[in-house]
Amino acid sequence: MTILLVGGGGREHALAWTLSRSPRVGTIVVAPGNPGIARLPKARLSPVRAEETDAVVALARAEAADLVICGPEGPLGLGLGDAVRAAGFPFFGPSRAAAEIEGSKAFAKRLMADAKVPTAAFGVFDDIAAAERFIDAQPGPVVVKADGLCAGKGVVVAATKEESKAAVRRMIGDREFGAAGARVVLEERLFGREVSMMALCDGDRLALLPSAEDHKAVFDGDRGPNTGGMGTYSPSPLVDDDLEREIVQRIFEPTVAAMRRMGRPFQGVLYGGLMLTKNRGPVVIEWNCRFGDPETQVVMVRLKDDLLPWLQGAAAGHLPEGRLRSVAGAAVCVVLAAANYPGPPRGGDVIFGLPADGTETADGVLVFHAGTRADAGRSGTEALVTAGGRVLGITAGGASLAEARERAYGAIGTAAGKIHFSGMHFRNDIGARGRS
Ligand code: AMP
Ligand code: GLY
Repeated sequence: MTILLVGGGGREHALAWTLSRSPRVGTIVVAPGNPGIARLPKARLSPVRAEETDAVVALARAEAADLVICGPEGPLGLGLGDAVRAAGFPFFGPSRAAAEIEGSKAFAKRLMADAKVPTAAFGVFDDIAAAERFIDAQPGPVVVKADGLCAGKGVVVAATKEESKAAVRRMIGDREFGAAGARVVLEERLFGREVSMMALCDGDRLALLPSAEDHKAVFDGDRGPNTGGMGTYSPSPLVDDDLEREIVQRIFEPTVAAMRRMGRPFQGVLYGGLMLTKNRGPVVIEWNCRFGDPETQVVMVRLKDDLLPWLQGAAAGHLPEGRLRSVAGAAVCVVLAAANYPGPPRGGDVIFGLPADGTETADGVLVFHAGTRADAGRSGTEALVTAGGRVLGITAGGASLAEARERAYGAIGTAAGKIHFSGMHFRNDIGARGRS
């Protein structure tokens, strides 16, 4: 089979690595991919960019793709799924209408209210005065969210009402996020630990993937500004079988059923950012219409079964029967970030200690590339250099969480054979939260 995979980050490297291990996969064409993906024996890169819908469809034709998979949310919101399906190719990922569950927070909130899915109390506003009246009427501070896609930056978790109001004025009044913030969702602030749950959906049924926890803040101890995610581990020690069942029955099933009723059946991966609250149990903080990054890195390492039939099944509207099995033990992904990230990252720092070929180090640790690029350099020999905020995701499985952590962190450092680059920073406490 020939797979066309759209995207070029760490998530796509993890997906390509997983698919390349399927005996039924012959070739994975990745648009645009990255230098780490290019090192996979079955993978080949195409310079087509993910947002160039027509060019992706043309590529599917040229390669006679048996399945097209999209990683990032942007192309889904532009209707890539609709265009690829209209051209007659099986597509893993939601239609434009179904991708609204991530693309419009207002849509997602209304859907959850209709389907009685637990979520924070909310209001939707495009008028500053009305928004301020809502804030005044709430018992505590209010979280302010731009309605549209803002690459994870459009959320202000305010500590006071004044802060909430200032955020509303910046978004609606000053158009801080352009059109994406012309409308805002105001939400009750909830408290609890966050877990990431992903499920493969065929429009009707769903198959849950192993739980994971992201670490969004840039510094140890969850301090400092938020990032796209500084690391993950799987499983979450908080999600036992009972909670998993509750999450499926109270959150995922009613959401998938509501999407179907609305004529927007969801085919692809539905990814919930959930907060585990003391009083209300699991509550949805946000829905995403795609694989999480870097959640996918740890989840892929833990899969026991071949992922391919499940992606094909979701794309065709018929998931396989039974469960998608995962291995016991744990996996950890430590993100190595570039100097100055999450501010504008410095690029061009040479990366040392990468595996000579393939994705695995000599110790079997997986090095997923996100922000890297090949550079001819001064000496004329080609090196890989930093080219993005999140540069690499150092990922390891283990019989226990402690072992997985030890293996992942053991691959990082300035000693010979260890991975490092100038300006590199990472969190030392990925997977150290444990139970609480
Ligand atoms: P989002 O982009 O909606 O995931 O929000 C980004 C982050 O803001 C989440 O991961 C939470 O940590 C936080 N957040 C969002 N909504 C709420 C809420 N209602 N209460 C508390 N924290 C929230
Ligand atoms: N890890 C956060 C996200 O993928 O949105």
